[in-house]
Amino acid sequence: MRKKGLMIWLIVILVMCAAVVISGCGARQAMPQEDDGSVIASGDGDNVDVTDEKEEEKETEKNSDTSAETAKNQVKPAEDKSIRGIPDAIDTRTTDDGDLLVVVNKYHAVSNNYTPKNLVTIDDKYGTWKNMQLKGEAYDAYVKLYNDAKAQGFDLKLCSTMRSYETQRTLYNNAVKNKGKEVANIRSAYPGRSEHHTGLAIDVTSASMGWGLKQDFADYPDGKWINEHCQEYGFIIRYPKGKTDITGYDYEPWHLRYVGVEAATYIMENDLTLEEYVGQA
Ligand code: DAL
Ligand code: ZN
Repeated sequence: MRKKGLMIWLIVILVMCAAVVISGCGARQAMPQEDDGSVIASGDGDNVDVTDEKEEEKETEKNSDTSAETAKNQVKPAEDKSIRGIPDAIDTRTTDDGDLLVVVNKYHAVSNNYTPKNLVTIDDKYGTWKNMQLKGEAYDAYVKLYNDAKAQGFDLKLCSTMRSYETQRTLYNNAVKNKGKEVANIRSAYPGRSEHHTGLAIDVTSASMGWGLKQDFADYPDGKWINEHCQEYGFIIRYPKGKTDITGYDYEPWHLRYVGVEAATYIMENDLTLEEYVGQA
């Protein structure tokens, strides 16, 4: 009788352990990672660090706090004012005028309350996070790209889409903390200088990359396909290899920017950056 009771307890414990293991995997799958810059910045070049995203969420919650608290969280002004550091902004955009060629970079900023128009919440199946947002034009184009990639057998997900000023601040601060200012400044945008804020930029991860972000993405079949075909959907590789002195950022094969098919085709076929295309290089 006692033996039978012990056996039952043993089975209960085993079932509980199995449940814990299974839910752990599920959680990991449900929230892969991100970048760019994030964290990416982590991303930027490395596998993304999920911890940073959690910090980001906490940080974002804190944003509704007192102004003293907010002041404490402000990033410090940059010392390096070159394109590889953080130059002073020439202008700061406060509203979205719908221009698909809008340039947000180290020289052209957006204000902390800049809100993209026509923002939509994407279907959770496309993202590694829930309730991710994009401008409708970019979302529609991505869905087409996603479906065609899927037909080729590629399993893609978006790990970063529209980012608020506060989110970017957290990502930038984390990048500085984890990699130092010099590296952070060519991988992660200073708050108000990330084009993710426009709702027109996406970071694409894939099963083949283990849901991380890697700088050799273009050597993977799916990354290569994206590199060769993204312009057909209106996207460009926004931070190409060897263009850091124009874009201010290291190569990011996972970061796509929606500009529309005509501009994207011209930019990609002529190995340009957005800055060069609009005459701002
Ligand atoms: N990683 C890109 C540059 C960003 O932070 O927006
Ligand atoms: Zn990005």
